[in-house]
Amino acid sequence: MLKAFARLAGFYRDYHFNGGTMPSPSTLYLNITSRCNSRCVYCEIGRKTDTLAPSGPELSTERLLQLVAEMAEWGIRLLVLGGGEPMVRPDIFEFLDACRQHGINVSLATNGLTIARLSHDRLEQLKATTSNVQVSLDSVAPEKHDALRGVPGGFRQAVASLETMVNAGFPDVSTNMVITTDNWDEIPEMIRFVKGIGVRFARFAVMAPISIFPTMKAAESKEALLPKDKETVRKLYGSIIEGIRVAKEVGMATSLESLEPWVQAYHLYAGSDDFFFRHIDGLKRFGCFIPFREVIIDYEGNILPCSYLPPVGNIAEAPLKETWQESLRPVRERLRQGRFYRECASCSCHFPYNYDYSVFLFPARNIRRLISTAAKHVRS
Ligand SMILES: C[S@@+](CC[C@H](N)C(=O)[O-])C[C@H]1O[C@@H](n2cnc3c(N)ncnc32)[C@H](O)[C@@H]1O
Ligand code: SF4
Ligand code: SF4
Repeated sequence: MLKAFARLAGFYRDYHFNGGTMPSPSTLYLNITSRCNSRCVYCEIGRKTDTLAPSGPELSTERLLQLVAEMAEWGIRLLVLGGGEPMVRPDIFEFLDACRQHGINVSLATNGLTIARLSHDRLEQLKATTSNVQVSLDSVAPEKHDALRGVPGGFRQAVASLETMVNAGFPDVSTNMVITTDNWDEIPEMIRFVKGIGVRFARFAVMAPISIFPTMKAAESKEALLPKDKETVRKLYGSIIEGIRVAKEVGMATSLESLEPWVQAYHLYAGSDDFFFRHIDGLKRFGCFIPFREVIIDYEGNILPCSYLPPVGNIAEAPLKETWQESLRPVRERLRQGRFYRECASCSCHFPYNYDYSVFLFPARNIRRLISTAAKHVRS
């Protein structure tokens, strides 16, 4: 508790008084490849003509290994690994080994299509080199999951991968379901289902209607998958509340409580000029802290302010640390002044985190939310 308070106080000082220069990020997000063996309907990568071909020159193994050393030197201890599908990169195990050697915790996001088919040795290697593995699971109905993710038999393989990892004693296996018009009513059922497999954490994420890869055009198929009409959004909220109840009943950790305060506003206003945070009861001042706290690097080595804004540099051209500290200053300054980007109106990127930080960093403006959020944190 004291540590968390000290961290927040340090961040408060840097955020308000350091003119956009931040000492170091807490987490590095790396989309290690633009290749993928799925064709998800709501994802730009899945909509490429040839999903298995890279969209451009990808980071070399050598540069990736160097990046791991740079991270360790800079003191970044958490790497969130995504893509594309990280498991299709032929050098993935070499990369994971390097992370372990440098003491970096890896949280791996995967579609789970290949893990059940790994040899015993590879599976053990994956267990030893990752601290968390998250598998995407979009429905408890096999045909629905397969349709959303564009792979016949994908549900069976994802579930087999979850079971394989649970049985092999992986320390932290989780799932992620993207909430769409097709599956919002399955939230409580999904919790019971993954609890039955032995999953530790069930994440539920809202769908971004804009491109989640800033150098790619948004997939046209996704807009229609965002639940928007009032009645559906009301029911979706009911599904979340029921999910929170079921999670308590079966003893399952989920992300639902962190979505609850803003999920209705998000669905009703995402993409409009009326920024959805203004419709969150009791939240008067909102800030985005992602470019202050995280480094996001895409498959081509671009350094991004967040998952939605265009690159500010490339690690092939300059060292990571200086680029992150300096090139992001104008973005940070703009956000600090509350001058949001067009993309921000459709952004759910780490919204639970932004929501909590907004409440704590602008306490006088968000007093009502401060009381309820602080109570939630003390309880958890
Ligand atoms: C981009 S994927 C990369 C890792 C891996 N290929 C996978 O699917 O799990 C990471 C997560 O983002 C989710 N995702 C993809 N498109 C999304 C969107 N438009 N909005 C929200 N989440 C999305 C995926 O379902 C997945 O759980
Ligand atoms: S969500 Fe993951 S599995 Fe699906 S297309 Fe995108 S990168 Fe591939
Ligand atoms: S709120 Fe804006 S700056 Fe922040 S993560 Fe979202 S799109 Fe990026």
